[in-house]
Formats: sequence, C-alpha cells, structure tokens
Amino acid sequence: MNYSNRKTSPFPISYRRNEVKLPMKAAVIRKYGGPEVFHMEEVPEPSPAAGEIKIRMRATSINPIDFKTRRGYLFFLSGFRFPKILCSDFSGVVEACGSNVTSFSPGDEVYGFTNGAAKGGGLAEALCCKASIASRKPSGLSFEEAASIPLAASTAYQALVHVGGLKPGMRVLVIGATGGVGHFAVQLAAIIGAQVTGVCRSSGESLARQLGCSDIIAYDREDFRQTKVASFDVIFDAAGKYGFWSCRKLLTHSGVYVTTVPGPSVMPAVALTAAAKRKARFVGANSNDRDLSLLRQWCEEGRLRPTIKAVFPLEETRQAYELAESGRTRGKVVIRTV
Ligand SMILES: NC(=O)c1ccc[n+]([C@@H]2O[C@H](COP(=O)([O-])OP(=O)(O)OC[C@H]3O[C@@H](n4cnc5c(N)ncnc54)[C@H](OP(=O)(O)O)[C@@H]3O)[C@@H](O)[C@H]2O)c1
Repeated sequence: MNYSNRKTSPFPISYRRNEVKLPMKAAVIRKYGGPEVFHMEEVPEPSPAAGEIKIRMRATSINPIDFKTRRGYLFFLSGFRFPKILCSDFSGVVEACGSNVTSFSPGDEVYGFTNGAAKGGGLAEALCCKASIASRKPSGLSFEEAASIPLAASTAYQALVHVGGLKPGMRVLVIGATGGVGHFAVQLAAIIGAQVTGVCRSSGESLARQLGCSDIIAYDREDFRQTKVASFDVIFDAAGKYGFWSCRKLLTHSGVYVTTVPGPSVMPAVALTAAAKRKARFVGANSNDRDLSLLRQWCEEGRLRPTIKAVFPLEETRQAYELAESGRTRGKVVIRTV
C-alpha cells in the first residue's frame, strides 16, 4: 500500500517528515465501528523527528479511550483521517533517536503512553514519540506487564496524589477497585499509607482485598452511597460512573471527589465547587518521566503489580478488544506486538 499521499498516511505529519519506506505490521482501522473494523496491514515505519525516539514495540494494552476512539465517540478529537493506529500504551526498545535527544540511547528499554486523547500508535511494530513522555521500563517486569501500566497507573497516581491530595493516614474510597485504573489506585493508595475502601462487584472482592482494600462494598449487593459511617478524604471514581453530587455526603468537610470521566454533570460541579471546601475534580492523565519513574520504583520494589486478564498477539487485536469491552475483565488486556 502506498502511503506517500498525505491523506492516507496513518502517521501524524511529524512522523512523515523523513519518511522511511521500510514496512511494518500494524492493526489499523479505516473507519469507525465495532471490533470488526480492525485489520492487519503493512504500513511504512515512522522515523523520529527532532526530540523524538523510535521504539521497536514489544507490547501495548487496551484502555477504554481506545475503544471509545474506535467507535467514533471522540471524532471531534480523532478526526476523519484514516487509516488510524490505536492504543497509546507502549513498551519496547529504543531503536533510534532524533536530534536533540539526550535522555535515551538505542537499546534502552522504555515504557509510557502517547499523550493526547485518541492519539494512539501502539498497535504496530514501531512507534515514534517525544522522548519526554517515555521512561525506563521497570526491570524485572516483562514487556507485557510493563505495557499494562502506563496510562492506567499514571491516571490512578495523578488522580490520588496530584488532584486528590492523598496523604498517609487519610481515608480513600476507590470506585471500580478491580478495573484497569482502579486496581492500580488501590495498590497506590495502600503504598501511600491511606486506608482504602473499594467498590467493586461481589465477584471481585477477593482480588480487591489482595490489592490492599481494608473494606469492600459490593455494588451489586449494596449502594455505597447509603453507607452511614463513611467519611472519606478522597473519593476516586475510577469507573467514572457516579458523580460529585451523589457522593458529596460521603466526603469529609474538606474532602475531594475525583473522577476519570468528564460527564455532563461533572464539569459544572468542578466549576461550582472550585471555591468550596468539598471539591469535585477531574483527572486528565499525562505521560511524564517523573510519575513513571516513581511507578517503576514501586514495581521494582515488588509493591506494585499489574493484574493481566489476557495477552493477545497483534493479529488478534479484534478478539482482544472484544474481551476488553465485554465488562468481564479484571485488570488489563495486553497485546503483544512482536
Ligand atoms: N481521564 C483520564 O485520563 C482517563 C484515563 C484512563 C481511563 N479513563 C476512564 O476511566 C474509566 C475506567 O477506565 P478503566 O481502564 O479502569 O476501565 P475498566 O478496566 O473497564 O474498568 C471499569 C471498572 O468499572 C467498574 N464498574 C462498572 N460499573 C460500575 C458501577 N455501577 N459501580 C462501580 N463500579 C463499576 C467495573 O467493576 P466490575 O468489573 O467489578 O463490574 C470495572 O472495575 C473509563 O471510562 C476510561 O475511559 C480516563
């Protein structure tokens, strides 16, 4: 397939500046739709622009933004230029560095995620990204494990610490405690020294306890919003299913509710509570070396571990997405790209 035509290239313009014609395998979409729109193609490998690194990809993982993008829900961000390569998490080995890159050398093992909603790029044998969004991969973890961490764990860490202000000894409620984001949030809150209550389906209770929850509320048995004694310093709605107003009474007088989903009631609540004691906040994750280094340190100390539901080869991207979208997963679904 010839991608010299700007309109059909799957790569952002910067990737095509020094276009190299070596082909690579990628799972691409040529229209929005269900998991059936994925198919394998040979596309030209990207080459790194100034400040970028080229990564020989080993694995990526699926986050809900990837299937929201594929369904076309984020068309106002992702546009109508096809084909597209989805999935923003990456782990792999640096193969080449663009000019001005001093932080990495070829051969370095890295992980991270491509910043910017709907950017993607991970479902391919190679990826170029800014060096500033990548970090050294945790040693002792496989590339599959490493690829399951960046977006979901960064979201959890940034929500709890940067946005929620979680400190040792505080009480935190994690809603969606066994999901991709939530299962990292429970572990991170426990590492920080907070007391963690998790909300999950009853079938996930034992996992939630293993992850570090001291109390669990099964949302298919009881409504946590009716809990009488609860008084949380931070409520992290990792599932993005509830909203500030229905959780407000569970917060301490200066408690913070943080959600992952900017739903229609969330942004007005964020604005209305900006000067209030109890606040509604939204987290928008960003990939950066500082947070990824901290996550790496906790992985290397054996305190943070991803839960992986399944690993699929690149050729089975459709099946991987079907599983990730089924609502039957715990933790993460990973795709091996070699
Ligand atoms: N803003 C950001 O930067 C950002 C970053 C990452 C993710 N997100 C968003 O965050 C959300 C979660 O992402 P994820 O990767 O964790 O997804 P996920 O792996 O699919 O997990 C979703 C979780 O939601 C739980 N859940 C579903 N219905 C629930 C309910 N009624 N009450 C309580 N929990 C419920 C599920 O629990 P059970 O399995 O027990 O039913 C599951 O643990 C997605 O909407 C995603 O787009 C936003």
